[in-house]
Amino acid sequence: MSEPLLDVVDLHVGFRIFEGYLSVLNGVQLSVGVGERVGLVGETGCGKTTTVKSILRVLPMPPAKVTDGQILYRGQDVLRMRRRRVQALRRHELSAIFQDPLQSLNPVFTIGTQLRDIVKDSAIGQGRRLPRRVIEARCIEALRETGMPDPERIMTNYPIQLSGGMRQRVCIAQALSTHAKLLLADEPTTNLDVTIQDQILRKLDELVDEHGSSVVMITHSMGVVRDLTQRANTMYAGSIVETGETKQLLEGPKHPYTQGLMASVPKLTGEGISEGIPGRIPNYLDPPPGCRFHPRCVHRMEACSAELPSLFEIGGGHRAACYLYGGEA
Ligand SMILES: Nc1ncnc2c1ncn2[C@@H]1O[C@H](COP(=O)(O)OP(=O)(O)OP(=O)(O)O)[C@@H](O)[C@H]1O
Ligand code: SF4
Ligand SMILES: [Mg+2]
Repeated sequence: MSEPLLDVVDLHVGFRIFEGYLSVLNGVQLSVGVGERVGLVGETGCGKTTTVKSILRVLPMPPAKVTDGQILYRGQDVLRMRRRRVQALRRHELSAIFQDPLQSLNPVFTIGTQLRDIVKDSAIGQGRRLPRRVIEARCIEALRETGMPDPERIMTNYPIQLSGGMRQRVCIAQALSTHAKLLLADEPTTNLDVTIQDQILRKLDELVDEHGSSVVMITHSMGVVRDLTQRANTMYAGSIVETGETKQLLEGPKHPYTQGLMASVPKLTGEGISEGIPGRIPNYLDPPPGCRFHPRCVHRMEACSAELPSLFEIGGGHRAACYLYGGEA
């Protein structure tokens, strides 16, 4: 991996709810190098969005609580930064595209107002003040690049006046306008027509290439991981269970969960993985001890339910959190 830009170390995050404490993130380890594109896959509810929100420090606290770990951005712990510094990071260096575009758009301002602010701010962050007409032109261009029809009119609309796919495009345009160093793309094309998904992802790829940005791409599509990332991570029930070069992971998955995930590729549309691996993701109120995958794993051994396995090196940076590859089992 190139010089690390982001290093999530042993992150534990939970939610206090009426019924008790949901222990969701269970020691997440995730690294992203400068200019690197990293994929993150895992079935619904495994904690992908919670990880992204933790990195951006936008989880509502309460109910969320970070109980342990570090999120190192250029070596500095985001979790311990002052609020103003985090806000500045979010304005100039980190950028996100969420699954649900309404989360990132303010309902009381027009798309134009929101986009202009971002373009203006981003230029200020780079030490430049842009004239109004340049800002306007950049906003329209950014919308056009996402394939948005009639961008001039869209600038005058409020989020509620747009379809889900159009809102998603606005979010993509916003994220790309910041020229962020790290783009956290959480299923960025979920709300788009299949005909435009590929085109948008390629555009996203082209633009991050141009800006030298790093990307964490969360997706249910192995095709997207294969085409757009250099390294891939599999997540299960709050932990990264396998990490390696994308080719290593796709062509020779080692963790039993990743193997099952690959076997159920056509069904990865949010309904869980019923045929590849029997059973479901555990209840976070009372998760199984040790390897959280053990109730579903055909290879389980005694050690598996005793202690959470760490990520054991398999070779060439390929690592799996499984006692088949190391430890005392
Ligand atoms: N604000 C919250 N309060 C309580 N529980 C939450 C909250 N946010 C997330 N969770 C729980 O955390 C778990 C992980 O959710 P998360 O949204 O991170 O999953 P995900 O991997 O992004 O899933 P998907 O693929 O469906 O987007 C889920 O069980 C979810 O119910
Ligand atoms: S640690 Fe044990 S239960 Fe977990 S995946 Fe490996 S073999 Fe299966
Ligand atoms: Mg999610």
